[in-house]
Amino acid sequence: MTELLAGRIALVTGSTSNIGLATARELAAHGALVVVHGRDPARAEPVAAELDGDVVTGDLANLDEIDAMFEQIGRRHGRLDILVNSAATTSRTHLLELELEEWTRAMAINATAVLRTIQQAVPLMPDGGAIVNITTSLVPQPAIGRGAYAASKAAMDALTRQAALDLAGRGIRVNAVVSGQVGSPVGQRELGRRSTSTPTIPLGRIGRPEEIASVVRFLASDDASYLTNSFVTVDGGRMHAAAVDGFPGPRVGGSHANSSSPTGRAGSGR
Ligand SMILES: NC(=O)c1ccc[n+]([C@@H]2O[C@H](COP(=O)([O-])OP(=O)(O)OC[C@H]3O[C@@H](n4cnc5c(N)ncnc54)[C@H](OP(=O)(O)O)[C@@H]3O)[C@@H](O)[C@H]2O)c1
Repeated sequence: MTELLAGRIALVTGSTSNIGLATARELAAHGALVVVHGRDPARAEPVAAELDGDVVTGDLANLDEIDAMFEQIGRRHGRLDILVNSAATTSRTHLLELELEEWTRAMAINATAVLRTIQQAVPLMPDGGAIVNITTSLVPQPAIGRGAYAASKAAMDALTRQAALDLAGRGIRVNAVVSGQVGSPVGQRELGRRSTSTPTIPLGRIGRPEEIASVVRFLASDDASYLTNSFVTVDGGRMHAAAVDGFPGPRVGGSHANSSSPTGRAGSGR
């Protein structure tokens, strides 16, 4: 599509589905060589083939596997310009029923692994590299039963802020996209049927993965050369909207387009 990221090597963790997949496609469309990542080669390799990119596999719960991924990237490409931390695990258990194992797993994959990917990526990054972490609006806006997930993402948010400071001396920018509810076309239909839905997305629908990906591409590019330690919220306007009856409201000059739900409601998301 453009040559905005031509010559850049980019790793997108969790690029076998949804936001990570859309981000891999977006970065490749703008000229980057994308290293696709997931746990299962059978899922990751077709994406890499589609994008004419590379692939690494590894379970982010295992630090040795993370180290091996970066060893491969260093050996094959000699450097890494862009790191996007999109892979994550979720948790939907009420705090009073939460087993320590589920808490520890969320922390391992969503926080500790992000620390490790940053530690491994930066030695491969030329000055001026970019790191983008995908976080969630559930940190500032908690939802029942999402405690382990939100706490692990809050740890990632703190890491984002810390890394932005610690790496600024090398011109490496570290930013985050705060995602609201996002789904693939199938996921959007499923979310639209959930009874735990909320009517508080002013734009009237959950997001598409491509709508997160385009912001990641901006943050990863030189177009965002003076942005670091920024958290860009992409949530259809929900973060700062009260739960007002009547959302989604009428559109000027036409009917409201809510493609995700016949009820105008969406699910509690991630
Ligand atoms: N979807 C939303 O509504 C939403 C909202 C807010 C924030 N987010 C954030 O956006 C990011 C992407 O979410 P998504 O919904 O697009 O994700 P998703 O569809 O659930 O995909 C998760 C990705 O992470 C990989 N992954 C999961 N566990 C892994 C592990 N232990 N080791 C290595 N890879 C692992 C999966 O790869 P394999 O299964 O192929 O191994 C897959 O590619 C996440 O950080 C999430 O917290 C999403």
